[in-house]
Amino acid sequence: MKNKYVDLIEQTFEFPNQEFTVNENELSWCGIPLMDIIKQYGTPLRIAYLPKIGENIQKARRMFNVAMAKVDYEGDYHYCYCTKSSHFSFVMEEVLKQGVHLETSSAFDINIMETLFEQGLLKSETFVLCNGFKRPMYVENIQSLINKGFNNVIPILDNIFELDLLMKDFDQKLKVGIRIASEEEPKFDFYTSRLGVRYNDIIPYYEEKIANNPQVELKMLHFFINTGVKDTLYYWNELSKAVNLYCELKKVCPTLDSLDIGGGFPIQTYLDFEYDYEYMAEEIVSQIKLICNQNGVPEPHIFTEFGSYTVGESGAMLYSIVNQKKQNDRELWDMIDSSFMTTLPDTWAINQRYWAG
Ligand SMILES: Cc1ncc(COP(=O)(O)O)c(C=O)c1O
Repeated sequence: MKNKYVDLIEQTFEFPNQEFTVNENELSWCGIPLMDIIKQYGTPLRIAYLPKIGENIQKARRMFNVAMAKVDYEGDYHYCYCTKSSHFSFVMEEVLKQGVHLETSSAFDINIMETLFEQGLLKSETFVLCNGFKRPMYVENIQSLINKGFNNVIPILDNIFELDLLMKDFDQKLKVGIRIASEEEPKFDFYTSRLGVRYNDIIPYYEEKIANNPQVELKMLHFFINTGVKDTLYYWNELSKAVNLYCELKKVCPTLDSLDIGGGFPIQTYLDFEYDYEYMAEEIVSQIKLICNQNGVPEPHIFTEFGSYTVGESGAMLYSIVNQKKQNDRELWDMIDSSFMTTLPDTWAINQRYWAG
């Protein structure tokens, strides 16, 4: 008779799957027997399985490159890591081993990059896409990175005042991008993203402030949909609007050659997760190509800035169920030894910090 919990899991989900298997009645994650780890370190415990980072980066690169080859796409694909997703040094080092480019959101990201550069882990030709609203320290750090010889730093203008801040007391050439303020999903309470420059302002802004400015080259148009890369009418509509704007801008801006489509690849956060990454990559690439061809515009290099996708599946939190509470006739709550809401230091780390002597 099938009456165990594992029977329910097996008949409801694809289980075992790529990540989870059961060996001799014990759960393994990415081939790691979790009970061995728990016996050694206790719970609550945060662990990272670093090879997953490289696997995901290589998978995305392969998918975009195959998608490009299938339609004879003329631009290149560049994988950037969105550094704010995890700043842990072991994550940054693993990501950089894969030769990725980086996307930053604050002054502190640049400090981290300077340290990685001093350690010989980051190359000065890496693309560094600087997103976010630029506070004075962020502007200063971007300028200092360019002064150190990083020749592919591209600050992405989040508003029409940032270019003046970046040029102040700075005489080197600047490559810049502009972020489009995308329309929010119709069911959302707000209409337009708080980030980026409004669609209708972008070409007039370029013509007024950049076209005749010998210090500045506009290289990139950037858009990011915070609901993620999804096979929905909303996503395809926003992508098509961004590519059409790219084409209009390219007609007046010869230096423009790249389109950044942001982050947003989903990850497995539940057992019956299904997502066709190949289909999405192929559809994105072919949509961009189609619209550019219709407009007689060369296809842009495509940049992505996947954060969760790069790092999310490499991390795990382990808890023990310490008790159960029956709060009404039907609901039995498992009580765990930490909180899903916080990333409290684990017991092993606390012991290292306070008791290791
Ligand atoms: C500009 C930008 N790029 C990339 C990302 C990463 O998104 P995700 O983790 O969904 O890939 C974010 C996340 O907020 C973002 O704001």
